[in-house]
Amino acid sequence: MSKSILKWAGGKTTLLPKIKVRLDKISNKENAIFYDLFAGGGSVSFEFSSLFKHTVLNDINKEITDLYKVIKSNPLELIEKLLEYQQKHNKDFYYKIRSLDRDQNYKQLDGITKAARTIYLNKTCFNGLYRVNSKGQFNVPIGRQAKIKIYDEMVFMEIHKKLQNIDITNHDFNYLINNNVPKPGDVVYIDPPYDKISDNSFVEYSTNGFSSYDQERLAKDVKTLTERGVYVIVSNSYTERTKKLYAEFFDKNSIIKVRRLIGASVSSRNQVDEILVDNIKQVKENVNKNKKT
Ligand SMILES: C[S@@+](CC[C@H](N)C(=O)[O-])C[C@H]1O[C@@H](n2cnc3c(N)ncnc32)[C@H](O)[C@@H]1O
Repeated sequence: MSKSILKWAGGKTTLLPKIKVRLDKISNKENAIFYDLFAGGGSVSFEFSSLFKHTVLNDINKEITDLYKVIKSNPLELIEKLLEYQQKHNKDFYYKIRSLDRDQNYKQLDGITKAARTIYLNKTCFNGLYRVNSKGQFNVPIGRQAKIKIYDEMVFMEIHKKLQNIDITNHDFNYLINNNVPKPGDVVYIDPPYDKISDNSFVEYSTNGFSSYDQERLAKDVKTLTERGVYVIVSNSYTERTKKLYAEFFDKNSIIKVRRLIGASVSSRNQVDEILVDNIKQVKENVNKNKKT
């Protein structure tokens, strides 16, 4: 099983075997393109990219997509920088690195320094949270761990190799769907920020968050893809809204108990129900109907 480079809220490592069961029902994957539209920590892309002709890893968070671009092209320089950060790690260093995005020259900073900062903060901040303020500045305090290991060279090089057959894009999920990019027979994995169970559950991954309106336009896109003959697998939290939005896709294995690994507080790490649904049956039925007519 692929290890990830980042601790990411909603990371899908524990769900991978269940996603694999669904992918196994799809034939001809070696000729299909796999779209991971909300890639986050990337565990799904890295685990399954070898089953497909090609993979597109997308996320709206540019810091993550830029990081993957650096690992794809410059892993050794990045590892060198991470080693330096690991050796220098202490409270003052943490806040010095965290404050880089408050500097007006931050945008001009080289890609390797920015990527190293993203990993370093992710591995040393409180609970691996990703949270930015309204200006897009990272604002999570330092974590409590005494010893840190911010990277594993073997994992890095493994992911570097996998990225050679992965395109990295930075769009709102709707962009690729709207532009008719996934074609019939392609496979789209959708893992949006969780639909909110309560108002204080953790769903902030970017400055804009993900609203109930976003959940609804996403479900509409799933319908569009189904009509287009594109296979879709969706995970989300199990709420009244997701139950309604994905009702037609539920099967007997769609409600899953998953222990969330990252929460804003210890109490929000409790076990919660999630959903995993797919449209494979509907797409196959449509294909058969079209063959008959
Ligand atoms: C639940 S996480 C994905 C976790 C990922 N599957 C993993 O295994 O780590 C949701 C991701 O969606 C991204 N996101 C939020 N809004 C988005 C949007 N409108 N379009 C694309 N990605 C978005 C966030 O940046 C975040 O990385």
